[in-house]
Amino acid sequence: MNGHICGTGAYAPKNILDNQKLSQIVDTSDAWIQERTGIVSRHLVLEEDTVTMATQAAKKAIEMAGISAEEIDLIVLATCSAKRLLPCSACEVQKEIGAIHATCFDLNAACTGFLYAYNTAQAYLQSNLYKTILVIGAETLSRQVDYKDRSTCILFGDGAGAVLVKAKEQGMFSMISHSEGEKGEVLTCEQGDYIKMNGQEVFKFAVRNVPNVILEVLQKNKMKPDEIDYFILHQANKRIVEAVAKRLQVDIGKFPMNVKDYGNTSSASIPILLDEWNRKKKLKPGMKIIMAGFGAGLSWGATLIEW
Ligand code: UT7
Repeated sequence: MNGHICGTGAYAPKNILDNQKLSQIVDTSDAWIQERTGIVSRHLVLEEDTVTMATQAAKKAIEMAGISAEEIDLIVLATCSAKRLLPCSACEVQKEIGAIHATCFDLNAACTGFLYAYNTAQAYLQSNLYKTILVIGAETLSRQVDYKDRSTCILFGDGAGAVLVKAKEQGMFSMISHSEGEKGEVLTCEQGDYIKMNGQEVFKFAVRNVPNVILEVLQKNKMKPDEIDYFILHQANKRIVEAVAKRLQVDIGKFPMNVKDYGNTSSASIPILLDEWNRKKKLKPGMKIIMAGFGAGLSWGATLIEW
């Protein structure tokens, strides 16, 4: 038994902060941000929060899957920016959507959170404990960013993405994931404080480890990079995605990107991109897709699925 994605949804706040406006707040420029990151604008919450955005994304995924919220057995919500510590955001989403039979919990693995949450859902499905699982990535990182620190505030945006996963006899799921707590100090956020990051170290970590973990999961399945239809990477920086494509010697066209419009939405970036590609009808049944995440922890991983 494997999980199969049968619904996707996403939500981004209407409020947009573009590079021009940002350069009036902090000493930066549109040209610098675009050249170093590929980001042009990002969505930032006004009235929304992690739970309200997650709820909107979840409702769209449930609608696409054509199921009732009461059928959901489990909700796993990946976030590192919940407004409230208790109750967990997954329980708050449960209340909003009426998923009365679901067991709910949050998972924090920073920008790798969605990937680990998806893997967790698959483990429950493979062990036949649950049949219908909602996996969400939702972040309000604008609340954790210092808009006086140009090295971080240009990067992050808010949003949520969700996938509805149902048990299926066939289908493909294979994962490799890693964590390295020893290097954790390069990207931190203390309670009540702002995100602090050594950008160059995180950049180097990503361009070295993401291609390696993708090759690991391919090797595990005796596959070659050119057998993969799309690589859905965590959207942190256009240059990171380009470096990964180059290392794998795969055409950049197989690496969808939307970092330009969203910035880095941490655990929400992969499901937001999946939903965009799905709604554009780019994802066809049987396609092989690798999702890859990386971020604070340090943590990273690659997951191979069949659409
Ligand atoms: O989800 C995972 C989390 N994080 C990431 O994936 C981030 C990974 N890292 C990065 O994406 C890049 O390291 C950054 C985009 C954060 C920075 O780009 P960089 O090419 O590594 O720049 P840098 O830190 O080496 O800085 C180069 C210069 C410095 O000036 P000097 O010392 O050369 O005079 C910085 O002070 O650029 C300056 N700088 C800026 N200038 C204009 C740094 N930030 C800015 C800015 N605007 N926003």
